[in-house]
This record gives sequence, structure tokens and C-alpha cells, in this order.
Amino acid sequence: MQNALQEPQTIVLLGGTSEIGRAIVDELASEATRTIVLGCRRPEEAHAEHYARDGREIVAEHFDAAATENHESFIRRMVAEHGDLDVVIVAFGVLGDQADFDHDPTAAAAAVHVNYTGAVTVSLAVAAQMRRQGHGQLVVVSSVAGERARSSNYVYGSSKAGLDAFAQGLGDALQGSGASVTVIRPGFVHSRMTRGMKSAPFATTPRVVGELAAEGIRKGRHTVWTPGVLRYVFMILRHVPRPIFRRLPI
Ligand SMILES: NC(=O)c1ccc[n+]([C@@H]2O[C@H](COP(=O)([O-])OP(=O)(O)OC[C@H]3O[C@@H](n4cnc5c(N)ncnc54)[C@H](OP(=O)(O)O)[C@@H]3O)[C@@H](O)[C@H]2O)c1
Repeated sequence: MQNALQEPQTIVLLGGTSEIGRAIVDELASEATRTIVLGCRRPEEAHAEHYARDGREIVAEHFDAAATENHESFIRRMVAEHGDLDVVIVAFGVLGDQADFDHDPTAAAAAVHVNYTGAVTVSLAVAAQMRRQGHGQLVVVSSVAGERARSSNYVYGSSKAGLDAFAQGLGDALQGSGASVTVIRPGFVHSRMTRGMKSAPFATTPRVVGELAAEGIRKGRHTVWTPGVLRYVFMILRHVPRPIFRRLPI
């Protein structure tokens, strides 16, 4: 249960090694936080000790976003072992390479499966639990790439567009249940995912995303753009005529 200061006692990070996800947890975790679960493919590499505090339980659990058939039982087990889930952050994702996808449709499908299908199954399991609890906040890390697909990464962009639409709809469906959804829409972030890539305008760091996301989560916002200016940039970009949009260096 979150306390009066909106400080969660139990936080679950799915994509437990994600730089953005961990930056959000860094900002959200407080003295009130009793349990942090890091769900990731290689729990032994989760560096769980980073979150250690007296009286706090830190657990690294095996979680594979692609193994959708296990997601419901994973969430049920987390609840059986740690009690109610106050904040669950869906931060896993793969960017992939559009040029590879163009020649390897199976690889494209695998990326979409993680980014979209995996996020849908686990989010539905989390939402069902939060409905039962009557409280809880699901945080979904989307991307501005889903706002308007670009030729340079349209497989990734389309998976994020689907995820974003799903998460917004789920948030609306949870109205009145006590549970809620906060969608985080980062622009280009200097993380492991983008290492070696050319930076984009308004690029930022996981730390800044973590700060803005935590502020939005505490305030119960349904959507948080990081940085905030991207909301206005995309208001315009979304409506740029296609012949011009195709020529933009983005
Ligand atoms: N960086 C950006 O510019 C940017 C911008 C907008 C949105 N985002 C989104 O932000 C989220 C976090 O990305 P990041 O920047 O923090 O990059 P990151 O550090 O590379 O994080 C990606 C995470 O996804 C996990 N993952 C990938 N496939 C998985 C699977 N099958 N099962 C479980 N976990 C899996 C990775 O785990 P492993 O350690 O096992 O690989 C890693 O923890 C992603 O959803 C990404 O799409 C990133």
C-alpha cells in the first residue's frame, strides 16, 4: 500500500536491468519501500545490492518477456511471496535494427513479441491483481517512436504505438478500480539501448527520465513525456504532411 506521501512499499521492475527502469526505481524508492523485485532474464546480473537498505528485501527473479505463457503465474507468485504490488514498472524492450528486420521478418516478429505481446500479457496479469487489491499503479515505458512511425525504425515504432494504445486503454478501463496506469514516453535516451547511435534532438539521460517519471507517477499522471517539450514537438510532427515528414532528418 502506498503511504500518504505516495511512497510505494513494494516495487516490481520488469526489465530489471533496464537503465531507464532502474533510474525510475532510484527515484521512487524511499524509506517506506520494503520490497523491490527485479524481474529479468539473468537475475545473477541484476546487481540487486544497489537497492539494499536495512530492513528492505531485494529479490532478483527470472522473468522473460517473451515467455508470455508464464506471466500470469509469475505475477501470482510475486503476490504470494511479497503481498500487494504497489508499483509495477514494465521497462523491458528491444530496439533491434530496421535494416536487419527488413531481411529477417522472424527477427522483427520476435522484437514485436517482446515489446508488445509480452507487455500486454504481463500488464493484464498485473491489472487483474491490482483490481483485486483495489489499488496499485502500473507504469509502462512506451516511446515517442510510437507517436509517428519513421522509416528508420518502424518495426520498433509500431510495437511502441501498439503498446502505448494498449496502456492508455487499460488505464481508462481501470477507472474506478483504485488501480491506475502511467505511460512514460521518452525521446532519445543515452542508455545501453542507444549506445553508439547518433543522438536525436532533446536527447536526455536515464536519470532525467527517472526524475520526471517519478514525479508523474506520484501525481498520478496518465502520461509523462520525457522531456516535457516532446509533447509539443510531437503535436506538430504528428500532423506534418507525409511528403515533408519523409524528408525530415529524423
Ligand atoms: N533508450 C532510449 O532511447 C529509449 C527511448 C524511448 C523508450 N525506451 C524504452 O525504454 C525501455 C528501457 O530501455 P533502456 O533505454 O533502459 O534500455 P536497456 O537498458 O537496454 O533496457 C532494456 C531492457 O529490456 C530487457 N529485455 C529485453 N528483452 C527481454 C526479454 N525477453 N525478457 C525480459 N527482459 C528483456 C533487457 O534485459 P537484458 O539485460 O536481459 O538484455 C533490459 O533490461 C524499453 O522499453 C525501451 O524501448 C528507450
